[in-house]
Amino acid sequence: AGAKEPRHAGFSFEGPFGTFDQGQLQRGYKVYREVCASCHSMNLLHFRNLAADGGPFWDPHVENPNENRFVRALAAEFEIADIDSETGEPITRPGTPADRFPNPYPNATAAAAANGGAAPPDLSVMAKARHDGANYMYSLLSGYQAPPAGLRIAPGQYYNPYMPGDLTPFWEGDPDKVPAGGFIAMPAPLTDGQVTYDDDAPETVDQYSKDVAAFIAWASDPKAVERKKTGMAVLAYLAIFAGLTYASYRQIWKNVA
Ligand code: HEM
Repeated sequence: AGAKEPRHAGFSFEGPFGTFDQGQLQRGYKVYREVCASCHSMNLLHFRNLAADGGPFWDPHVENPNENRFVRALAAEFEIADIDSETGEPITRPGTPADRFPNPYPNATAAAAANGGAAPPDLSVMAKARHDGANYMYSLLSGYQAPPAGLRIAPGQYYNPYMPGDLTPFWEGDPDKVPAGGFIAMPAPLTDGQVTYDDDAPETVDQYSKDVAAFIAWASDPKAVERKKTGMAVLAYLAIFAGLTYASYRQIWKNVA
C-alpha cells in the first residue's frame, strides 16, 4: 500500500529564497537534546557548528564559534568518552565545542538490544536520507496513530502511516484496503507539554515535530542558505552580463547593413 505522502509543515527554509528561522532551530535543538538524544546520535555534528554563522546559537558578536560561551556550556553538559593522555586509561570528560555529539550507546549491538532489535539511526543527515526529509520527519513524528483493527502488530513495533513499508502480510481485513504505512521500532517519542519553550511557541506535538525536523534539516545541510545566496548572486551577475553583452553586440553591428 506504500506510505502516506508527508504533510507540509510550511518550513521557512523551503524555496530558492528560504532561510532558517533561528528561533525554530533553537527550539528544535532543545527537543533533540531533551528527547531524541537519549536514543539517537548526530555523529557528523560538532558542538561548534551550533555557533557557526546560520546555526541555532550563532552570535554575530562572537566570530569564533569555539568561543561562544553558550555553546561551551551546552557542550559541557555532555559526557564524552576519551583516553587520559597521561595514563592511557579510558575516561569520561565534559564535552567542548570541538567534540561531536556523542552516541548514547557504546555500540550498534547495544543500541539494537535496547530498542527491540532496531538501532536508532544517526540523525546527522536524516533530512537527506528520506524523500522530502524535513516534511517526512515532521509527518512521521506527529503522525502516530492507533493501529487499525485487523492489523497484526508484533511486540516492540508501532504503527505509523508515514513509515515506508508494506503491511499486506499483517493485514486481516479487506485485501483492497490495506492500511498505508509501516511498522517502526520507535515508540511515539513526543507528547504535548513535554518540552518547555522559552519563547511563546505552542508546546504541542505538532510544533515540537516541526521544530526538531527543522533543526535536523539545518544539521543535514548547514550551508544551504549560504549556497542559495551565492546562487542568487551568480544569477544576478549573469543577467547583468547578458544585458551588457547584448548592448555591445548592438553597438558593434549598428552600421552593418
Ligand atoms: C528511527 C527521529 C526519538 C528510537 C527514527 C527515524 C527518525 C527518528 C527520523 C527514522 C525513521 C525511518 O526509518 O524513516 C527521531 C526524533 C526523535 C526520536 C526526531 C525525537 C523527537 C527517539 C527515542 C527513541 C528512538 C526517544 C528511543 C526510545 C528509534 C528507533 C528507530 C528510530 C529504535 C529505528 C526504527 C526502525 O527502524 O524500525 N527516529 N527519533 N527515537 N528511532 Fe527515533
